[in-house]
Amino acid sequence: MSSAEHLADQVTEPDWPVWVLVDDGLLLGITTTDDTPALGWTDQERAESAIFLQSTVTHPTRAGAGLGMVVAFWALDRAARRGQQWVRRGVLSDSEGGNLGLVRYYRRQGWRVVRAVPHPRKPGEITVWSLARPAGRQPDLVDIVTEVEHDDELRTRLASA
Ligand SMILES: CC(C)(COP(=O)(O)OP(=O)(O)OC[C@H]1O[C@@H](n2cnc3c(N)ncnc32)[C@H](O)[C@@H]1OP(=O)(O)O)[C@@H](O)C(=O)NCCC(=O)NCCS
Repeated sequence: MSSAEHLADQVTEPDWPVWVLVDDGLLLGITTTDDTPALGWTDQERAESAIFLQSTVTHPTRAGAGLGMVVAFWALDRAARRGQQWVRRGVLSDSEGGNLGLVRYYRRQGWRVVRAVPHPRKPGEITVWSLARPAGRQPDLVDIVTEVEHDDELRTRLASA
């Protein structure tokens, strides 16, 4: 199964915390929000309250439009509204430097690299980058994003798409 199919399956899974960015009926982005994983994080950090962003993907035809940033700002705002301390994410890079551009991009956006460690299980020289930002309200977001939780109508529509 490709990662796109995997994500598409998650969208229709009622118990999986998947969020989609939809504009005018078009699916422009997707992310999952989960607990901080053991990979790349200490037990002490995992005990802190945080949203861990995983599988964030924006529509390739909208590259450069800043949609990934909208997703990130939404997560910072949601975490703050819920009284959580952090938003975190991880990036895996390989020995050829694949994905290092993404780490640089996230750093430019304000993400702090907490640590970079060798992947304990994956073959090859895979590095696990742990990134974090403190949660914070984003007052300008209300003009851009309306958050809808448990949108069953949307889920049904995406399931049949
Ligand atoms: C990562 C992502 C969500 C960011 O979305 P966005 O904020 O809308 O940003 P863009 O798609 O415009 O990309 C921004 C920059 O990141 C770079 N970038 C994006 N994905 C990258 C990757 N996998 N490896 C290296 N660089 C990447 C882009 O080339 C671009 O670089 P530039 O600013 O020098 O032009 C989006 O690029 C995406 O869906 N990427 C593919 C899936 C992915 O790698 N997800 C991350 C999982 S941790």
